[in-house]
Amino acid sequence: MKCILLEGIHKIAGEQLMAQNLQVDHIKSAPGTKELSLKKNCLALGIRSRTRITKNILEALCPSLRLIGAFCIGTDQIDLNAARQMGVPVFNAPYGNTRSVAELVISHIIALSRQSYHFNQIMHQRKWNKTAQGSKEVRGKTLGIVGYGHIGTQVSILAESMGMKVIYFDIIETLQMGNARPVKNLKELMSLSDFVTLHVPQTSATKNMIQEKQLRWMKKGSFLINTSRGTVVNLEDLKISLQEGHLAGAALDVFPEEPQAKESTFICPLQGMKQVILTPHIAGSTEEAQENIAKQVSASLLKYLFHGISEGAVNFPILNPPILDPTKKGQRLVNIHKNVPGVLGNINGLMSRLKINIQSQYLSTKEDIGYLIMDMEHKNIKPLWDAIDSLDTSIRTYILPFSTDRS
Ligand code: NAI
Repeated sequence: MKCILLEGIHKIAGEQLMAQNLQVDHIKSAPGTKELSLKKNCLALGIRSRTRITKNILEALCPSLRLIGAFCIGTDQIDLNAARQMGVPVFNAPYGNTRSVAELVISHIIALSRQSYHFNQIMHQRKWNKTAQGSKEVRGKTLGIVGYGHIGTQVSILAESMGMKVIYFDIIETLQMGNARPVKNLKELMSLSDFVTLHVPQTSATKNMIQEKQLRWMKKGSFLINTSRGTVVNLEDLKISLQEGHLAGAALDVFPEEPQAKESTFICPLQGMKQVILTPHIAGSTEEAQENIAKQVSASLLKYLFHGISEGAVNFPILNPPILDPTKKGQRLVNIHKNVPGVLGNINGLMSRLKINIQSQYLSTKEDIGYLIMDMEHKNIKPLWDAIDSLDTSIRTYILPFSTDRS
């Protein structure tokens, strides 16, 4: 039984898993369906964004496969419902690259304000074009943040430390950082800001959130930065606003359609505009972020494998019981089952018949499955394990620590 880490996941993930005596295979590529389906001895699978995990692959890898680590932010590449129904939790690291995104936003704010990208291009064309015209300090300017979540709040802190005034708009009430001030609506935010930066998720409400009307609300000579999702901004409308000289510039890291493979051709209506900074969805891509993500996801994998803790799983009922104490005699039995009436009654009935005393019991459900953890002080819980595992409602049953597992 091995942990298989695909797509060149940062080496620290493998080191953390091996430190707990797990065997780890590192594979640089993203194998196709056929190749992946042959990895029958895979206990834990680590992927990034390029490996697609379909129902067929899950069926091929189960029952060995206990969990999946998505060493990235998104989990769209995984059939999360199929994984849950087969009792396979999926863990990711949603905030591993928050700081990296916030830093790129700050760099874009200064670069737009000082036109440094434009000067750089001219210098590479062997021209010297020294001028102060159009270049401004960011101190004292107003930054408007749309979406005051993890990234938005980090940007807020960094911007204030440079002397910017920060206002923000969010659909939920959030704790304000420093002197940042919430505003009532998007219109107020757009009309007061010198820079607007977008940090909302991709939802039906944020699709085309910024188009002609909203761009008109912005001050003449202001700047727009989007590192959130490409669907949030209508690029044709943005292009017109820039051509008309209403907006002074924009920086975009995300696009409605992004190529999957490296070195692909990329087409965007804003190419060739000197006041526009384009980056290939790299706001969260730093060495530090990769390391953070590797540490966070492998820690989640270990907590689930050794203690049954499912906190952080994106498709699974959440249970956060105390970690198992190796110095104590107790054993932990984990049962993933169909979420139908009577499961707990049946299991407790079995325990009572086998005269097993429960120390603690934890249950959580999500949609069609239930997740039960029971701690008990009993030397031989194998008969109980067999009995629970053979219930019609059971999907997976394990004894922890996992080395005593049979499946
Ligand atoms: P988050 O979930 O912590 O914060 C999002 C905030 O937006 C929440 O406070 C939410 O209430 C708010 N929100 C949702 N709908 C809204 C609406 N219609 N109007 C105003 N506010 C709204 O998310 P986080 O981690 O801050 O990420 C923000 C965005 O950044 C996401 O779209 C994410 O996909 C993207 N991202 C981009 C990266 C890159 O490399 N370019 C890397 C990491 C994240």
